[in-house]
Amino acid sequence: MDNPEKILSWYVLSGVDEICGEEPMNLLSAKNDKQVSHEIPNSGRPATTLLAQENTAACNNAREICDKAQTLEDLKAMVETFEGCSLKFSANSTVFGHGNPQAEVMIIGEAPGADEDRVGEPFVGRSGHLLDKMLQSVAIHREDCFITNVLLWRPPGNRTPTDGEVAVCLPFLQRQIELVKPRVLLLLGGSAANAVLGNAESISGMRGHFMDYTTANGTVIPALASFHPAFLLRSPAQKAKAWSDMMRLQRKLAE
Ligand code: URA
Repeated sequence: MDNPEKILSWYVLSGVDEICGEEPMNLLSAKNDKQVSHEIPNSGRPATTLLAQENTAACNNAREICDKAQTLEDLKAMVETFEGCSLKFSANSTVFGHGNPQAEVMIIGEAPGADEDRVGEPFVGRSGHLLDKMLQSVAIHREDCFITNVLLWRPPGNRTPTDGEVAVCLPFLQRQIELVKPRVLLLLGGSAANAVLGNAESISGMRGHFMDYTTANGTVIPALASFHPAFLLRSPAQKAKAWSDMMRLQRKLAE
């Protein structure tokens, strides 16, 4: 394969869609391991147990941080200094929630993609443009919503987030919900809905009706799951169902 265009598209297809520098480097070597300490004390326990313990410690730390944040600005500043999720070190930006801090509608996606990672805001790429159109179709303006993701950082190559990554980022999402206090949640895609609602149901089973999301202080917020715009871009035949979900959201807001 000597055609540079073909080589580049092969890389993109393989998930290598970011250039970090001019020279290749081994990000796993000790020399490049400047951000996180992966030093695990040699306790004789299996590595998986130690990794699970590290993740549990990071989750506890995330929860402590979140409890202290009294405003979205506080929380955003705390996220900037949080180092408990390794995704932070491969991402270009932290993608915190964006929009109206007193929004009636809070929209939650799975994770930032390449465009969001570059810009530092959620849903600014192709999926974001479709989301804007979906909202406009029921007279909801993006600027009136608060838009965020389960994950604060882009998984490399847009791979599926691990359970550990979701668990570490979840307290930050839950605190954003508590601070914005929206009237309704719109959960885009099965992964976002599973993470927020703590279940393992399929998106086809969850969409089409409101479910209850309960905050730590017991406030119940109606949550509507619908198809992720990225899925709709690949499967336009499903747009009719997404449209009926948007109408359902509009009716709920009119109650
Ligand atoms: N997909 C998501 O789930 N979130 C974004 O911010 C962009 C694409």
